[in-house]
Amino acid sequence: MLETIAMDGPAASGKSTIAKLLADHFGLLFFDTGIMYRAVTLGALLENIPIMDEESVSQLAEQMEIDVAPPSIEDGRTNDILLEGVDHTWAVRQPEVDENVSIVAAYPGVRAALTKQQRRIGQRGRIIMVGRDIGTVVMPEAALKIYLDASAEERARRRYEECLAREEEVSYESVLAVVKKRDQIDSERDVAPLMQAEDAILVNSDGKNIDQVYQEIKALVEEKLIGSKG
Ligand code: CDP
Repeated sequence: MLETIAMDGPAASGKSTIAKLLADHFGLLFFDTGIMYRAVTLGALLENIPIMDEESVSQLAEQMEIDVAPPSIEDGRTNDILLEGVDHTWAVRQPEVDENVSIVAAYPGVRAALTKQQRRIGQRGRIIMVGRDIGTVVMPEAALKIYLDASAEERARRRYEECLAREEEVSYESVLAVVKKRDQIDSERDVAPLMQAEDAILVNSDGKNIDQVYQEIKALVEEKLIGSKG
């Protein structure tokens, strides 16, 4: 499908940051699917639904109203994340959500509910969608697929710095442990595991800064999407 970009990769590999820059530059819609899994996880925590209660969590995913709107406040957010109309933009990033989100994302019922919504949004085209299974399951027909990777240590260091900037009390070791655990659950689950699509281009961001990775992927977009038009 023309002008659709799928970007997948493990936790904290920089997908959202890079995708946002690309979306702004090329005038595409940026859609971070991880937010939806985080929203369901936060919803379960807020409603005291046990995370291990697969049936109730799946039901919640079917029913919950998740909205992603343009940013209403200038506090570093790229979007407002609304659950049932209430702003939970930063709450979906809290450590408790990080610790539980991969369990929730492994439930087939949750994936079915969210994948359906993601496909519907993707069909409009002119979109860069970010997640774990976009190139393999959600938009297998995407015009360009990128798999963004980096070592667990580098990814944990970046996520740790983000937490420090938000003044959250965490240690580097605990962030690294959560990143590794999420990667393991995401890669080993039965439905739509984290995997590089056969036709995805692998970009490794170890030792590169944001601008270097952005320039590298921007060149790929220009070559694949814009080049293929002319
Ligand atoms: O930003 P970060 O890489 O830490 O994670 P995220 O993209 O916000 O995704 C949070 C979690 O949601 C992942 O660890 C996966 O368990 C799940 N997820 C998924 O299963 N499929 C997607 N398409 C996106 C996220």
